[in-house]
Amino acid sequence: MTRPGVPYDAGVPSRWPFVGRTAQLGAVRSILGDGTHGGVVVAGPAGAGKSRLAAQAVSGLEGFTVAPVRGTVAAADIPFGAFAHLLPERFPAVAGVNPLRWAAEALRPPAGDALLLTVDDAHLLDATSAALIHQMVLHRSARLLATVRGGEPAPDPIVALWKDGLVRRLELEPLPVEETGRLLAQVLGGQVESATLRRLWRVTQGNLLYLREMVMAGRTAGALEETGGLWRWHGDLSLTPRLRDLVEARIGDIDADERRALEFAAFGEPLGADILIRLTGAVAVERCEERQLITTFRDGHRLQVRPAHPLYGEVVRAHADSGRVREMLARLADAVEATGSRRREDALRVAVWRLDSGTARQPLPLIAASRLAMSVFDIALAQRLGRAAVDAGGGPAAALSLAYTLFFDDRPEEAEEILRRSMGTPATDQERSVYARTRVLGLAWSVGDDADAQRVVDEAAAAVTDPVIHQDLLVLSAFVHFFAGQPLASDRQLAQARRLGDTMTPASTAQAAVVEGLRLAHGGHPGRARALADATLREVERWRDDAPDAFWSLQCVRLLSHLFEGDLAAADEVTNLTRRLMREEAPWRLGMAGFDGHRAQIHVIAGRPADAVRSCRDGIAQLGEHRTGFAGLCFGELAHASALLGDVATARTALAAAEGRSLRTFVPIDFPGVLARAWVHAAGGDLGAAVSAALAAADAAETHGLRCYRMFALHDAVRLGAAPLVAEDLARLCATIDGPLAAVCARHAAAAVAANAAELDAVSRAFERMGMPLHAAEAAAQAAAAYAPGDRAGVFAASRAWALARSCQGARTPALGDLTAPRLTARQWEIARLAATGLSNREIADRLVLSTRTVANHLVGVYGRLGVGDRAALADLLGALDAAVE
Ligand SMILES: Nc1ncnc2c1ncn2[C@@H]1O[C@H](COP(=O)(O)OP(=O)(O)OP(=O)(O)O)[C@@H](O)[C@H]1O
Ligand SMILES: [Mg+2]
Repeated sequence: MTRPGVPYDAGVPSRWPFVGRTAQLGAVRSILGDGTHGGVVVAGPAGAGKSRLAAQAVSGLEGFTVAPVRGTVAAADIPFGAFAHLLPERFPAVAGVNPLRWAAEALRPPAGDALLLTVDDAHLLDATSAALIHQMVLHRSARLLATVRGGEPAPDPIVALWKDGLVRRLELEPLPVEETGRLLAQVLGGQVESATLRRLWRVTQGNLLYLREMVMAGRTAGALEETGGLWRWHGDLSLTPRLRDLVEARIGDIDADERRALEFAAFGEPLGADILIRLTGAVAVERCEERQLITTFRDGHRLQVRPAHPLYGEVVRAHADSGRVREMLARLADAVEATGSRRREDALRVAVWRLDSGTARQPLPLIAASRLAMSVFDIALAQRLGRAAVDAGGGPAAALSLAYTLFFDDRPEEAEEILRRSMGTPATDQERSVYARTRVLGLAWSVGDDADAQRVVDEAAAAVTDPVIHQDLLVLSAFVHFFAGQPLASDRQLAQARRLGDTMTPASTAQAAVVEGLRLAHGGHPGRARALADATLREVERWRDDAPDAFWSLQCVRLLSHLFEGDLAAADEVTNLTRRLMREEAPWRLGMAGFDGHRAQIHVIAGRPADAVRSCRDGIAQLGEHRTGFAGLCFGELAHASALLGDVATARTALAAAEGRSLRTFVPIDFPGVLARAWVHAAGGDLGAAVSAALAAADAAETHGLRCYRMFALHDAVRLGAAPLVAEDLARLCATIDGPLAAVCARHAAAAVAANAAELDAVSRAFERMGMPLHAAEAAAQAAAAYAPGDRAGVFAASRAWALARSCQGARTPALGDLTAPRLTARQWEIARLAATGLSNREIADRLVLSTRTVANHLVGVYGRLGVGDRAALADLLGALDAAVE
């Protein structure tokens, strides 16, 4: 599909600016420059950027006459084919002339210059050209900069170059995903959503040629678009004819059997190697493997096959006509079923193949498959299967499973409509329970109406007689109360459920663990919360199909438990894990938004507000325009991070969105929006309002049973200079909260009240060790102010505060006041850095051609300005600074 009026490469410059590869570029230039080797061969996979790197290395290189040569398929059999444009037309018809010597002579540059042979695609060189290059490098009559494709056979003389150590071989890996992100941001002129980046990277595998084509295709088709300052890819990947041709060219000429094997591998990906062999025969599979069209890999006990490059799969799938596709999918389904596999993912795949090949007739397997898809958070697929189940006459059970997927997808109206159309009054206790669960989850997570949700539970509870189902409903009620910010009511319902005995269903056990885990984590017992979550997750197979949302929520318990203990790295690891579980092409949007919001929360606490803003924007992109779950979290963290960066306008707008768009049923999740208020006031310069907001947040947190957030709020007051107002409360509160963070927060408040400089210093160190440099900088700044004027320790604390603050991506808070850089001259900085690396005065003097006395004098000045007493303290301080500059 092409949108009229959009040129093919709309808005994308035809040649991309060169990005990244700093280390590799440096390595190539220094090898060429220092002459210890005869040159360098850059090797790597297709499209990794070998030729571009070589070109970049040569541009601006002085002192060389460059002889550019390319290996090509066309000239591979012509002697000196690659050099034809550089050599005289005729070889002298004189007997006894050595052709290699003759050619080398002809290439000799004007006197004075060295010769640099740049050879692109050296693996394609003709034999004579290869021999010539080898000779010239061996005799040092030329330096070499060559590229070769890794894994492709190259002429022997070329291989000998690096085998014999004449030249260095540099492996160029595909452009890493972060650098690809920078490249795309430059090319597109704005931030790229991280899911979009990872998806593009995954499908192109860092092949920049393919990436370029994908980007142009996306721009042309309108799939890659900017909204709200963020570039996102919507919908399926589109391939341009040119990209298709490029990929087809890589696939090359293959016979019908090979194509069939590749097709099965593409449609069945990943497919058991034994199954593929059964479908197409061993010979075709082997040939595809030899030609690197498919790869095999181990997955547990299985040997699996998939196309060697994701784009091979895309292209092959795009080519096959629909009749053939149906036939192939049906055969894949038959083949996998015939193996009698019990793997969950196989059951799901078979159901999808049956659906897509028109061989699915029974609603029950479709309903089961829809639940399996939910349990791996493939919401789009779950919906498709649920719809098919409804269409196949699946009745209320099918309607419920479809409605469940729609609620998850934040589409409550459609879900309610399906239920109205397909559900009569639930007839059995079981049906009443499932119906209540589905609607309650929808009302709580999507509609945001806790009163309605509670009414649904009550109605069901009044109608059921089965005690186990009654227990389920009590757990459900506890769940609704907790998320509506009513912890005591939640506790009561849960206690009542437990009194009914050890009969809880696995799904209710998991749901109860969610409520209890969150209660424990927020209530100040993160370790116990995590233990409960871990124990429940170990039993995941027992409840996953019936309560996929519990899996996600238990990860939240784990994340928050780490966060409240101050273990930011562990908390972040949970966000990584959950992200890996999502299908990026069609993620569970709310789930993604939730974890992006939490990731932003971690960034803010870790003193990385700019990273936090990016995470928030990723999260917000997943949210609808209306009131929605996680709005308070994502917009709240955006407000907080923007306030720290001094972007008051964004902070205020975001805070308004956090307040206006959050749901009543997300109180604990969205609480960061309440915590953000203080920081938005502070950024606007109203410290009094900031402190009041922090105190109000502390009260609200108490009301909702969020003691750790209360701790954050009271500690915010300390950071805002109001320690005397909160120190006692904070001390009492922190004594009831487990984990190292609470201890440091309480200590901070007490030290601030006592203006105990040494203790504030110690608190600063503790925050620094916990990976919280912004907090550390603030405590150090407070320490600096508490030391007596002229005290060297005070000067040092100020230097540390400044250095730590510099590592916080530009964060400014009231406690940091007007920290200024230590006033060192350029020479003093230079000497300070050398001394910090452990060099003696003598060594520094030698290196800078100064007298030892001058160095010593400068160092005295440095020590005085920075407030350090010795080299170790200097190294410590400058270490923090260098970390900031990186
Ligand atoms: N570091 C980079 N920054 C920006 N663009 C790049 C970079 N590296 C490569 N490119 C672009 O990516 C595309 C592919 O790069 P290049 O042709 O150098 O790959 P290659 O490894 O030589 O591939 P082949 O194996 O096909 O020869 C080109 O359009 C190139 O300009
Ligand atoms: Mg190349």
